[in-house]
This record gives sequence, structure tokens and C-alpha cells, in this order.
Amino acid sequence: MPPLDMKPNELESYWMPFTANRAFKQRPRLISGAKGMNFTTPDGRTVLDATSGLYCVNAGHCREPIVKAIQEAAGRLDYSPAFQFATPPVFELTNQLALLAPGDLDYALLANSGSEAVDTAMKVALSYHKIRGEGARTRFIGRERGYHGVCFGGISVGGMVNNRKAFGNMLTGVDHLPATYNRAKQAYAVGEPEWGAELAEDLVRLIGLHDASTIAAVIVEPVAGSTGCIAPPKGYLKRLREITAQHGILLIFDEVITGFGRMGYAFSAERFGVVPDMITFAKGVTNGAVPMSGVMVRKGIYDAHMTGPDYAVELFHGFTYSGHPLAVAAANATLGVYKDEGLFERARAMEKPFADAMMSLKGLPHVADIRPIGMMCGIDLDSVAGKVGQRGYDALERAFFEHDLYIRLATDTIVTAPPLIATESDIGQIRDRIAALLKGLA
Ligand SMILES: Cc1ncc(COP(=O)(O)O)c(C=O)c1O
Repeated sequence: MPPLDMKPNELESYWMPFTANRAFKQRPRLISGAKGMNFTTPDGRTVLDATSGLYCVNAGHCREPIVKAIQEAAGRLDYSPAFQFATPPVFELTNQLALLAPGDLDYALLANSGSEAVDTAMKVALSYHKIRGEGARTRFIGRERGYHGVCFGGISVGGMVNNRKAFGNMLTGVDHLPATYNRAKQAYAVGEPEWGAELAEDLVRLIGLHDASTIAAVIVEPVAGSTGCIAPPKGYLKRLREITAQHGILLIFDEVITGFGRMGYAFSAERFGVVPDMITFAKGVTNGAVPMSGVMVRKGIYDAHMTGPDYAVELFHGFTYSGHPLAVAAANATLGVYKDEGLFERARAMEKPFADAMMSLKGLPHVADIRPIGMMCGIDLDSVAGKVGQRGYDALERAFFEHDLYIRLATDTIVTAPPLIATESDIGQIRDRIAALLKGLA
């Protein structure tokens, strides 16, 4: 029995995710509330949220319709078994998602995190090929600098070294396309860079190396988020689609960040004019209010699984909390807010003012590149010699304590992705506070 008088404010026992734990515990950055564009802190400060939490609070914080829907759902149905039973609102949600998704991506599998969605999509790809008698297609192709969550499938196809190097062999039979970023050729590009579509041809090389008959799927983020906002070169995604279609390889877009308005559309596949075979989503589907993720799947993939006797389970996969009633309530309300407030269209309208504001940071101390696309922007800072990540950490901490600004850092890259309700004045504030921050950074 632990002592009942244990100090309530002891920080030690929480091993925080993707966090410099020792530094945090010396000087904690605590958040106790949020509304609209802002967080509040226990000491009463208001902190402007420039990155929608972790790219998820697209409609702004604590939105009344979403809060109410969650409260009401919690009192009505706390939990309903996810396997062999369902609760009516989940069908409302999946129908909405099918309408929002491009082409015939009309089926939704539900999970709880982006990582789970990625591993789900990968398993569906394997299962699809096996059912069709192409069980030798077990290989996945990811991309350098890709981020697909932290489960074993996701880190295997992912391409961020720190997320991989401690975890052994991961999935075998995985290869990677090269990253599409090249500063010498693309610096300060707004939107899709002109240079780089030819990098898609590397897929032809990998097919030559492994043979298409061994490749299940290619998975990419249409715009790489966690590595610091890297837009696809013009024509690159279309070319990936052509090559994969030609060789019977599935194409998976990981839209965990780019979905639900971040790129001005329900899914960025629409913006880029490409219909993949599966789309993973999470984050913005519930505005971050309750964990939920999922995979949109083309009809042919679903249909291929609908074999065997009626009473038999077709896909041996799912989570206790797939389609959890609270998450479904949050998602239905969130999609309602996006629609009622036209937030995807708003994101499109604000893209230019946002890009202009971010690009105006060019020339300020330490800035090495700026990459806006949609309502997201990466701002590379020069690294301190021999201490990669230190300037980024310094920026994160100073932004929070000295400039009342929350920003996400990817090593030494600031990533901004404000809630889609941001006004030009909010965007101006984000810009001005980053400018002041940069001027004060060592
Ligand atoms: C593209 C992408 N895929 C997957 C994930 C993993 O999501 P989660 O942290 O919910 O597991 C993320 C998270 O940022 C992501 O950006």
C-alpha cells in the first residue's frame, strides 16, 4: 500500500513520451486549460497555440458542440463491445468519412492512434494480397524522413533514425524511397517545390531490385509532418500512384496530420489529385478531444475480404476501443463543426496570408529555410555546432515561458500549424512572437 500522504505534485513517476524528461522535471511546462486559440497555464498565463496541440485541434480548443457531445455520450453509453456489436452513431461517422474520402475509399476501420492506424493499414495490405493468392507480396516501401508512429510497423517503414535505432531489426523486408527534401534545390519554396518529382523514379529502381511480386505497399505522408513539414515536389505523388498501379502495389497515404483541413481539404489526397488505396487518419477526426484513428479503404480491398461463410470473422484485427462511443460522439460533433463553419474552405482561404506571414521571417537570426504548405509551415533553424537539437529545445522553452507561445519543434525545426479558426490577427501574433523569439535566441 503506498503512503496516502504521497506528495501530489511529485513529477518523477511520469516517464513522459518524446520528452527530455530530466529537463522538463527541472522546469515543467504545465498546461491546465484551453479555449479557442489558447492554452492556459496553472499560473494564469494565456499561451497562444501555434501548432494545434500536436496538429490535432483543427477547430480550436474546447469547442462547445464537441464538449457537449462527449458529455452527453459519457452519460448515455460508457462502453459498447467493439467486436460483433456496434452502436448506431458509429455508422453515421463511417458514412460521413466515406463521403469525405476520395474515390471509392468507402470503408473505414477504426482504431485509437495514428500508430495503430498505420499498423492496421499495413496488415490489411498483407491480408489483401494473401486472400488474392499473392501472398509473396510482403515487402513494404516507406520513405526516409517519414513518420508513421511508433509501433513496429510504423517505425519499420518510417525513416527518422532516432525512432528506429534503439529497436532492433523491426519488420524485415522493408525498403525506403529517398526523402524529397533538398535545400540546395528547394529552399524557401512556398507550397509544392518545382524540383524533385524525379525522386519518384526511385520506386522503379526498388521494384527492379526486389520485384513487384514481393511488394505489398508503398506508404508515404503526402506532406511529411513530423520531420519538419516537407511538401511533395510537383507531380511526385501522381507518379508514385502511376508506378504502384502499374505494378499491383497498394499505395497508402498516411494523412494523420494532413487530414481534416490541414491542407484545405478533408484529405490532402484531394488537393494533390491522387486516389490512394488506403488513407490513415487520426488527430483532427475528433479535434484531439478523444483518441481515435482509422483507415479508409477502397471498396475492392473490403470486397476481397468478404469471403467464406457468413458467420466467420473476415479480418482478425481490431481493438477493444475501436469505435469507442466517446470517440465516435467527439468525431461526429467535430465533423459537424468542420462543415458548419466551413473550416476546410477557410484553411484554403487563409493559406496565402499564413504563408506570407511565415515567409516574412526570412532573414531573421538562425533561419535557414521556411516551407509553408496548407496551414502548416516548417522553419529550419541552423543547428548549434556539435549540438543538434539544442537550439530547437531552447526555442521551445523560451517560446513558452517568455513569449506565451506554444510551438512544436522537430529537432531544430519550428513547425507551425495553427487551428483552422485562426484569424489574420492570430497569425500575425504567431509571426511576431516567433520573430521576437528568434531575435532573442543564442
Ligand atoms: C503521419 C503520422 N502518422 C502516424 C502518427 C502517429 O500517431 P499517434 O501519435 O497518434 O500514434 C503521426 C503522429 O504525429 C503522424 O504524424
